[in-house]
Amino acid sequence: MVCLGNICRSPLAEGILQQLANNKNLNWQVASAGTGNWHIGQAPDSRSVTAANKKGHDISQQRAQQFKPTMFAYYDLIFAMDKNNFADLLSIATSKTEKSKIKMFLEIGDVTDPYYDDKLFSVVTAQIETRCEQIIKEFS
Ligand code: 4NP
Repeated sequence: MVCLGNICRSPLAEGILQQLANNKNLNWQVASAGTGNWHIGQAPDSRSVTAANKKGHDISQQRAQQFKPTMFAYYDLIFAMDKNNFADLLSIATSKTEKSKIKMFLEIGDVTDPYYDDKLFSVVTAQIETRCEQIIKEFS
């Protein structure tokens, strides 16, 4: 799960998908990263932690990391939260196999960056939760 800072959107997607997968006894390893490096080592944004808590998910122990090219080999699928993340990932990929692993997280459109708008966190969390439920059905 990849966004820009790895503190707002992708930690929600990691935490929610991992928990849903665990609940179904799926042996999935879910992780998240940012294309940017500003927040490496930081906990998720408190607004994401609160929004996740309201839905019964604890993402507070996650720590931000920057996307590394080695992740292309390690993970089967790389989900981009928005078009910019998608384009950045494509530009880092070095083979057709790597490029083919990159997907947009939503089937239509972007998960809007909520960083500058507090009101967006609940919207984004609901959107991510709905899509994670679909991903479980689609890939399990
Ligand atoms: P995220 O949100 O990509 O969902 O983690 C952002 C967090 C931080 C910044 C931008 C987006 N930033 O510019 O620091």
